[in-house]
Amino acid sequence: MHNKDVLLESIKQPMEQYYQTMKDMIGNWQPLVEVSEKILAGEDVTNDRVAPQLHFLVDWMKLIMQVTRDAEWDWTKPEIQAVYKKIADSPIYKTFAEATVGIVTAILKTGQIGTLVEIGTGPGQVTDKLCAEMTHYNINVPIIISDRSPGIAETAERLRKLNPHLMIADFIWDIRKEPPSELLAKVVKPVLLYERFCIPYGGYDAIKSIAPVADILVMVEDLNLTGKKEAYDVIYEKIGLQFFTYVEAKKIFGEAFLTYPHLRYQNH
Ligand SMILES: C[S@@+](CC[C@H](N)C(=O)[O-])C[C@H]1O[C@@H](n2cnc3c(N)ncnc32)[C@H](O)[C@@H]1O
Repeated sequence: MHNKDVLLESIKQPMEQYYQTMKDMIGNWQPLVEVSEKILAGEDVTNDRVAPQLHFLVDWMKLIMQVTRDAEWDWTKPEIQAVYKKIADSPIYKTFAEATVGIVTAILKTGQIGTLVEIGTGPGQVTDKLCAEMTHYNINVPIIISDRSPGIAETAERLRKLNPHLMIADFIWDIRKEPPSELLAKVVKPVLLYERFCIPYGGYDAIKSIAPVADILVMVEDLNLTGKKEAYDVIYEKIGLQFFTYVEAKKIFGEAFLTYPHLRYQNH
């Protein structure tokens, strides 16, 4: 069993740090909205219209427009995973990774978790950092990483080589479908499921597929607070990302995770 109050107390500090860093790093999103409107309209824009820490997002949106003009976006393609790896090395993505790892590690340190499950692992930058923290704090909870892309086997092989002392299993799991039975057979409850930017690729229905596996969910997503779809939301739809609003997601999470629907939002 896990204790809700102990868990919420454990994540206070990493949540507070994340909130502060984001506030300092990204004050105003408006220039990005304006640039994304121009990119969507096919105008040639330079990335110096936004703050330096957001330049990579301008390049990312331009690349999405260029690639999806002639072909479908395919996450399983090694070239796409390679480009994403660069994005994931940007300071803002590092902040997301540090927050996820800080929160997951804080929960692990309470000693209440049986298995860790990651969805949409991709090239595994978050997992890399988490393995380093688990090693540092001598935490041996088994990890299951997963992705819909078969490249997950390669990521797992790399992580196992780097961390031979940790138990790392890998599965192909498309979160729009039920989890593989072999994965379910491996988990020991309580399960902490975490992710960074995967759930909206599965759509709202994916929440229902992951809920039966996860006792606790830690997620990093851009959930829209205004309900208004901006140009960048339309651009991201071209790579399979669904427009997720905070209100709708919260409702579905609330229904699916009856026990702790507010874990993710307690500092808002
Ligand atoms: C934006 S990347 C994030 C990768 C990694 N979590 C990170 O933060 O660096 C999205 C990942 O989700 C995976 N993905 C997309 N749709 C998925 C689905 N339906 N089921 C499982 N994984 C999916 C992609 O293959 C990709 O690795």
